[in-house]
Amino acid sequence: MILVVTTFLRGSSYVKICNTPELRRRTLDDFCVAAGPSSKELAMKIAAETRSRVVNVESKIFPDGESYIRIAEEYLPHYTVLVQSTYPPQDRHIMQLCLMIERLQEMNTNVIAVVPYLAYARQHRAFLPGESISLKVLARMMEAAGASRVITVDIHNVEGLGYFSIPANSLSAVRDIAFYLKERISPENTLVVAPDHGAKIRAETLSVHLGTDFAVAKKERDRITGEVTVSLPEIEVVRNKNVIVIDDMISTGGTVSAIANILKGAHAKEVIVACTHALLTDDAMEILKKSGVNEFIATDTVPGEFSKVSVSHAISEFIRRL
Ligand code: R5P
Repeated sequence: MILVVTTFLRGSSYVKICNTPELRRRTLDDFCVAAGPSSKELAMKIAAETRSRVVNVESKIFPDGESYIRIAEEYLPHYTVLVQSTYPPQDRHIMQLCLMIERLQEMNTNVIAVVPYLAYARQHRAFLPGESISLKVLARMMEAAGASRVITVDIHNVEGLGYFSIPANSLSAVRDIAFYLKERISPENTLVVAPDHGAKIRAETLSVHLGTDFAVAKKERDRITGEVTVSLPEIEVVRNKNVIVIDDMISTGGTVSAIANILKGAHAKEVIVACTHALLTDDAMEILKKSGVNEFIATDTVPGEFSKVSVSHAISEFIRRL
């Protein structure tokens, strides 16, 4: 079962209309998948799972850094599922996304933008006076380019979906992460830990899938310096346990290394870190290793050597139900 969060703006009525048998047949028979340059492999997997045609997208970067997109198709079906994640370099991937959306909708197809990692979602509100709400701007850009629907995975905060006036959904990767971990752990010796309150539901869901207990750490981040401090009430429960720390994303590694240090200090055995989006800036991996993290797993929303879990199934299943 996928955890689906839907906006209640125009989203709910759209879902209702699409669930009539007639339209369900039409969407299933009548869509193709466009593979954006940042998510080619994932798009191929989605196309294979949904048994749909792949639209070729040509892309290049001009010497001055500008993006070029060409989609040389004569006919496109009623819907096109465009897959383009917006991991770093975010701004380039966003520009490519908007160019592709614009080009596709010019060809009279409804563009379902699948953006597995949605950049700028951490700035879904102003934390300090005067800050620009980046996610609001990104939502407007995608809509202005012509997207008719947006699907993402584990958006940083579901409140962010409210900036879209087209239907917008965030799917969860937790079930697939749990599936990967299930045969590698023994539930009685394992504890799932959320590094902060924002990760609580994710950790609780994972613990239900795995049949383990879970705990929630307290995190504070200095909004100016970025420095993170973490504490885990009832820290003694981790002694001699294997601990899975789950978060939506790992960027600098600061959050997870702070919690791993505490866990190791409290005599946890193995520390496994799982996340959906492995952004891994600078020396994040080094920081994680130094803090005693034994294993690191992530999904393919950001493709790389740690993408041990694919979100293709969650996305394909959701698309099939539209
Ligand atoms: C924050 O609330 C997020 O859920 C992550 O915990 C955070 O963005 C991770 O960033 P970093 O790896 O830089 O600490």
